Amino acid sequence: MKGAIFLLWVVVVGLVGAVTARRPVVPAMFVLGDSTLDVGNNNHLPGKDVPRANLPFYGIDFPGGAIATGRFSNGYNIADFVARQLGFERSPLAYLVLKSRNYLIPSALTRGVSYASAGAGILDSTNAGNNIPLSEQVRYFAETKTKMETAAGRDKVSRLLARSFFLVGVGSNDLFQSTATTQGDVIALYTTLISNYTAAITDLYGMGARKFGFISVPPLGCVPAVRVLNATGACNDAMNQVAMGFTATLKSALAGLAPKLTGLAYSLGDSFVALETTFSNPQAAGYENADTACCGSGRLGAEGGYCTRTSKLCANHDAYVYWDWIHSTQRAAELGAQALFNDGTAEVTTPISFGQLAREG
Ligand SMILES: *[C@@H]1O[C@H](CO)[C@@H](O)[C@H](O)[C@H]1NC(C)=O
Ligand SMILES: *[C@@H]1O[C@H](CO)[C@@H](O)[C@H](O)[C@H]1NC(C)=O
Repeated sequence: MKGAIFLLWVVVVGLVGAVTARRPVVPAMFVLGDSTLDVGNNNHLPGKDVPRANLPFYGIDFPGGAIATGRFSNGYNIADFVARQLGFERSPLAYLVLKSRNYLIPSALTRGVSYASAGAGILDSTNAGNNIPLSEQVRYFAETKTKMETAAGRDKVSRLLARSFFLVGVGSNDLFQSTATTQGDVIALYTTLISNYTAAITDLYGMGARKFGFISVPPLGCVPAVRVLNATGACNDAMNQVAMGFTATLKSALAGLAPKLTGLAYSLGDSFVALETTFSNPQAAGYENADTACCGSGRLGAEGGYCTRTSKLCANHDAYVYWDWIHSTQRAAELGAQALFNDGTAEVTTPISFGQLAREG
């Protein structure tokens, strides 16, 4: 009898433990950005030039079964790993998927929504017509919020949004397609980008968002698609300088903006810092290869464009930084998210880590 009671106690405590362990630290997560975060919005956009990762070998390692979900990865992307760090199973579903399933508001009220769209930029003009640009993602969020209020009431929604995690990662596509060459052109581009980025953040704040986790642009000059243009396969330093300069500009813009928006808290993840060791010493960072697309064709796996069913696959997907000619592997996304949440690495996140941001308030 005693044994049975003890066993029951173990089972109950075990269950409670399991449930609390999985309980997210924030009520919901809202995601805005580009292909590094897209979980399927572009699958629902019309047009033959829309970038979509809806065919193999995308998703070949997707947890629970190989399926091309729209993520530009062999499995999860960094939005999924940020979500997991927050206690969710993976990224919230894509806005257009939720709408098509008539499940937008239930998801928004319990887990969140992803508006991220591959190809999207801070500017509407970036890859225009083939993605959901940042300003439109913000409008979709506004529409979602209105419907949430109708369903759950203004007070409840206001409390929920104030504690929710807003993950934002955008800017690479604006820089990729920029034709700025002189230092003056580059500075002017930063000014335009930061002005529109700031407008989007301020709009979200006006609608009740308070916790922002930003991911800065990665070392664009090091992606296989850019390296392949150099005979030696080296990173394009000029392009990296432009990306680094944008990160620095964003860093100071956020430091200036935050005090003006009472109650706003943020963390900015610097991908350059996070990837420093990865490129200087791939083996030390746990990789065999940091310059070639695992799924691709030709030199550096980057001569045939995106990953397709006819691409050549590397043997060990986890040993590569890059999955396709532009995007990271599931493993690199996982390590990236870990760095964002690591409280000890002050250089990766400013002024606090994603973890501190999530737990705050
Ligand atoms: C800049 O942002 C505003 C406000 O979100 C938007 O209406 C406008 O279209 C954007 N401009 C460009 C060039 O993207
Ligand atoms: C290739 O990369 C090397 C090393 O960074 C650089 O010195 C060289 O100028 C690059 N070549 C081209 C054509 O960009």
